[in-house]
Amino acid sequence: MERVKIFDTTLRDGEQSPGFSMNINEKVRMAKQLEKLGVDIIEAGFPVASQGDFEAVRMISQSLKKSHVAGLARAHDKDIERAWEAIQHAHHPRIHTFISTSDIHLTHQLRKNREEVLQMAAAAVTKAKSYTDDVEFSAMDATRSDPDYLCQVLEAAIEAGATTVNIPDTVGYTIPVEFAELISYIKRTVPNIDRAVISVHCHNDLGLATANSLAAVLNGARQVECTINGIGERAGNTSLEEIAMIFYTRKEYAQIETSITTQEIYSTSKLLTRITGVRVQPNKAIVGSNAFAHESGIHTDGLLKDKNTYEIMTPESVGVTKSNLVMGKHSGRHALKEELKTRGYELSEENLNKIFTRFKELADTKKDLYDEDLETIVAEIVLRAPDRYKLINLNVVTGNFAIPTATIQMEVEGEPKKDVGMGDGPVDAAFKTIAKITGTKSTLLKYSVESITGGTDAQGVVTVRLEENSQQIVGRGAHNDIIMASVLAYINALNRLEYIKQNPIKTRL
Ligand code: KIV
Ligand code: ZN
Repeated sequence: MERVKIFDTTLRDGEQSPGFSMNINEKVRMAKQLEKLGVDIIEAGFPVASQGDFEAVRMISQSLKKSHVAGLARAHDKDIERAWEAIQHAHHPRIHTFISTSDIHLTHQLRKNREEVLQMAAAAVTKAKSYTDDVEFSAMDATRSDPDYLCQVLEAAIEAGATTVNIPDTVGYTIPVEFAELISYIKRTVPNIDRAVISVHCHNDLGLATANSLAAVLNGARQVECTINGIGERAGNTSLEEIAMIFYTRKEYAQIETSITTQEIYSTSKLLTRITGVRVQPNKAIVGSNAFAHESGIHTDGLLKDKNTYEIMTPESVGVTKSNLVMGKHSGRHALKEELKTRGYELSEENLNKIFTRFKELADTKKDLYDEDLETIVAEIVLRAPDRYKLINLNVVTGNFAIPTATIQMEVEGEPKKDVGMGDGPVDAAFKTIAKITGTKSTLLKYSVESITGGTDAQGVVTVRLEENSQQIVGRGAHNDIIMASVLAYINALNRLEYIKQNPIKTRL
């Protein structure tokens, strides 16, 4: 068996796509879960892009012990210096520097000739190497580059000290047979290739990201760059769960293993969904809600006789289990603290108190509390953006005779504010009143409700998507009163918008 390294870029390539931005707390929480999942390298962000990105990479670097932490940098001194500043305290810091190698990018974007770009690549690696031994070089748009020129740039990067060379299919253009040939060609042609790990980074524009990554590994690549739920620029990146489960399920054929603890896959996927509010399609491989659901009579008949008939991997192998009853009305603060500790949450007293209060409130109205209930409360309280807006009180009058009216009391930066408004329904009335109080200029693009766990006392989770100045943001709220959940979701989205305004992402790749 040979080992393939898993390089996760959920917090960089994933986070930069519309609707997936996360605040610092959320990124740190996600990074810790990625470490628990067994990811070898976590690309934590692009430090030069903004102060917010820089802080997130710095905090992640200080929070992890096992996984390597990579900071992205263009082939510019300033980017590399900033990346190093952010990752220098990581146990295993990596600088990931890149420049395009395709003539299309050289001519129209960089406006540089091949020799200039080759020199820039080598200089960037040399600079990065002056800070850390672990340097990755990416040849952006590699799959549309002249293969001979690509090989020359890779050779120069390795000569300058790159220990990993990444071959990105930046625009999702290649197909498996062609990509396999390119990797073989690089292996045969670059004279010093044995001094570096070949990595691949595929985008999913033609739905081939996972297939292309697999073809590359079968031809010598030993690092795959991927994201949870396959999120990422445009159609996304190779999905971590797919590539990991391919090597788990087909290890005899591929003779490849990874460091991924597959039983952590489902909870990692769920955490990302909870943080971003963006659900995966039901038929998504490995983590979709239908991925292990068998409907047809013939299939269920076969499964009842022998699981092997229609099941190539078990739900348990990716961590899909029945909802666990976690705690009840009588559980105390200490039990809650212990339960949260086993889930990887080390909480401040303040956050623990908030969670305990909400937990007790919920336990008073809901008979049983499940995993999902607890995780939802934690996501609401611990991961939320710093609150500029806070709900104090809500009163809604509705019915088939009344004009739906909402009276809302809020705090705006600590100042109490109160207003009343009418609408087409109770949610509309509440949203209009909040918009009046906060003076928001955002537009509501999407509103959806789902229930977590079953039963009429289940918590409703509301997701709203807002847009302001072309910036989209998702907010979530959970409560067993749907109107409350809606209001919490809307206020959460407004707080996240505020956060983004204060931490603008200046540069997107
Ligand atoms: O898609 C791409 O080329 C990238 C690079 C920065 C690796 O994301
Ligand atoms: Zn990419």
